[in-house]
Amino acid sequence: MTNAEAMPVRLFLSSGDLVADRRFDFARDLQLKGDLVAAADLLLQSTELAPGFASAWFTLGEIRQRLGEHDAAIAAFRKAQIADPDDRHGARLRLMLLGAEQLSSMPPAYVRALFDQYAPKFETALVDDLGYRGPALLFKAVLSVRAAVRRPAFFKSAIDLGCGTGLAAHAFAAQVDQFIGIDLSPRMIERARATGLYAQVEVAEMAEGLRGKPDASADLILAADAVVYLSDLAALLREAKRVLRPGGLLAFTAETHGGEGVILGEGLRYAHSAGYLRRSIGDAGLTLSRCEDLSARNEDNAPVPGLVAVAAKT
Ligand SMILES: C[S@@+](CC[C@H](N)C(=O)[O-])C[C@H]1O[C@@H](n2cnc3c(N)ncnc32)[C@H](O)[C@@H]1O
Repeated sequence: MTNAEAMPVRLFLSSGDLVADRRFDFARDLQLKGDLVAAADLLLQSTELAPGFASAWFTLGEIRQRLGEHDAAIAAFRKAQIADPDDRHGARLRLMLLGAEQLSSMPPAYVRALFDQYAPKFETALVDDLGYRGPALLFKAVLSVRAAVRRPAFFKSAIDLGCGTGLAAHAFAAQVDQFIGIDLSPRMIERARATGLYAQVEVAEMAEGLRGKPDASADLILAADAVVYLSDLAALLREAKRVLRPGGLLAFTAETHGGEGVILGEGLRYAHSAGYLRRSIGDAGLTLSRCEDLSARNEDNAPVPGLVAVAAKT
């Protein structure tokens, strides 16, 4: 199961035209029944009625892609981007996968919409359906790094990047005095706040959230299953180095691949090569204390290739 398929609800942005919206609904029924050609035809009709109908263009792009109509799929995804410049459907990601756009960051509005919709079912979908174990892996890695240097694994202040509903803070609750949670999705942040595990929570982009923190103000920074939504990690690592106190740790899980650099996987998550992570951590002036091949979750009942990294500010 890919990340997109695990999503409980599909984003729908009304066209504002009742007839066009109704054609869209019929088209979705047909799509779900497997009649892709008829569904594409109806979607095209609905975009004729409402040319700025982003959800129809996006769905048409998906169907054309399934039908093997590469160029026509690209054209539909481009229309979806024009219809919704914030790109809440993530048409840019589909264009990247189709080779029509260079690898670049995810549209923030897409991440927010995705996780705002996902929030109510997040923990069941991730933990039960995808066997998610990111926080437990980070916990073990951080404890090992501290044991290796004979220092206690207790942290006065910690920052949880992409905190979601608070699973990482839960795993580290006995180890940390004060947690700050940062996440792009207001619905996820609501849930994190409700746990009572965070002294402070913020709706912000990860690197931006760190940018607002004073120098040398955190002992631990966690990012559990969060850098998979960032292509370029340079800004995040630079800010992490600045915000950590000497001796502080940055621990994160990543998805990885056997090649070089960063790729966008079919599940619409970035995979970073081990070489890329090592280089980026070094370039940021951090020291890699631990980097292990460990998978944080499953897809199609198989572990997704992953890494658990702990970097130290020396
Ligand atoms: C798969 S969830 C993981 C949540 C949590 N860390 C856990 O282990 O359960 C990823 C979270 O990262 C957030 N996120 C993704 N990209 C982000 C970004 N650039 N800045 C801040 N949060 C981001 C999402 O909103 C989502 O809540």
